[in-house]
Amino acid sequence: MNYIGSKLSLLEFIENSIFQVVDGNCSVFCDLFAGTGAVGSHFKKKGFKIIANDLQYYSYVLNRHYIGNHNELDFQNLSEIIPELQYKALSLRRIAVCEYLNSIEGTEGFIYNNYCSGGSVSCGEERQYFSDENGMRCDAIRQEIEMWMNKEYITDDEYFFLVTSLLESVDKYANTASVYGAFLKKLKRTAQNRLIIKPAELIINDRNHEVYCGDINSRVEKISGDIVYLDPPYNHRQYAANYHILETIAKYDNPIIYGKTGLRGYKDQKSLYCSKTEVKKTFVDLISKLKAKYIFLSYNNEGLLLFDDIREILSKCGEYGCFYREYNRFKADRPENRYFKYAKTVEYLHYVIVNT
Ligand SMILES: C[S@@+](CC[C@H](N)C(=O)[O-])C[C@H]1O[C@@H](n2cnc3c(N)ncnc32)[C@H](O)[C@@H]1O
Repeated sequence: MNYIGSKLSLLEFIENSIFQVVDGNCSVFCDLFAGTGAVGSHFKKKGFKIIANDLQYYSYVLNRHYIGNHNELDFQNLSEIIPELQYKALSLRRIAVCEYLNSIEGTEGFIYNNYCSGGSVSCGEERQYFSDENGMRCDAIRQEIEMWMNKEYITDDEYFFLVTSLLESVDKYANTASVYGAFLKKLKRTAQNRLIIKPAELIINDRNHEVYCGDINSRVEKISGDIVYLDPPYNHRQYAANYHILETIAKYDNPIIYGKTGLRGYKDQKSLYCSKTEVKKTFVDLISKLKAKYIFLSYNNEGLLLFDDIREILSKCGEYGCFYREYNRFKADRPENRYFKYAKTVEYLHYVIVNT
């Protein structure tokens, strides 16, 4: 998924740096601002037990699948609806269920009525986040998954796999420059293609992982691990506002929405890490409560927290160090629409070996 601050392209740097610091006895890796789950998934593949957390519910869904699901999904009870599942090998059933969902008729639901031209035009606020066809397909698929869950045709694990597959797929057809803070006036080429759900990757690993959804400062005292990886927002851009449609597809809760972009309220999901006046004391509070052998923090040279402040705060816990890497800036707009101060950003990976 195209996500602000995603570390997908920095995984090698993060892994190499972390393995230069930690000892060989670490088995629990905590990804506490987990976002897309890219970092947790990477370390899950290396055999770690993962503890993941994020403030956003769509992120919980992604992590509940990528991290929380660690056994094959057999969709046993769904053969009443999709009889051919009985004859499919276990590893092919996920694909067969997505194929079935791809075959159902679209319907006029919340996404079509509020985020597609055809549905929203009658509300006086025309929005075009998806083509009409894709909005209806998204609604039909999301409603089918919910109905299956309510009727116990699918387990929790299967439910989160399916909602993750929908979220990941639908994002590829969104008519946006990249985030959901605005939509484009004309349907771009990829938004015109017919929405097809692709099965999300399933990472098999024999550990029991933990996945949470909430403000990390309120939860951190209940979490402990060997390696804690922190990747908070770097600037004032609230994830709740930039990914509000993914939140609504994940929850499918018919929220009250407002304004040109159809934003849902997010007063409980405002991150203090996006506030210039609050970020430092929020970070100090988090670090003071963390229980870990090693703490790593991703941050860049343009973030709200200053390099020297981070170094000072972390140094109080133990032996401090830092890796860095030049990185191409996340582009929300076309370059001609916005003045960029730097073509490149320096991405830091601060760490502290915590005093015992
Ligand atoms: C830079 S992104 C993380 C990206 C992630 N490492 C990845 O590769 O996808 C920051 C994440 O922090 C989450 N977040 C912001 N404030 C938070 C808080 N107080 N507690 C937990 N998560 C928070 C956001 O929802 C967002 O997903």
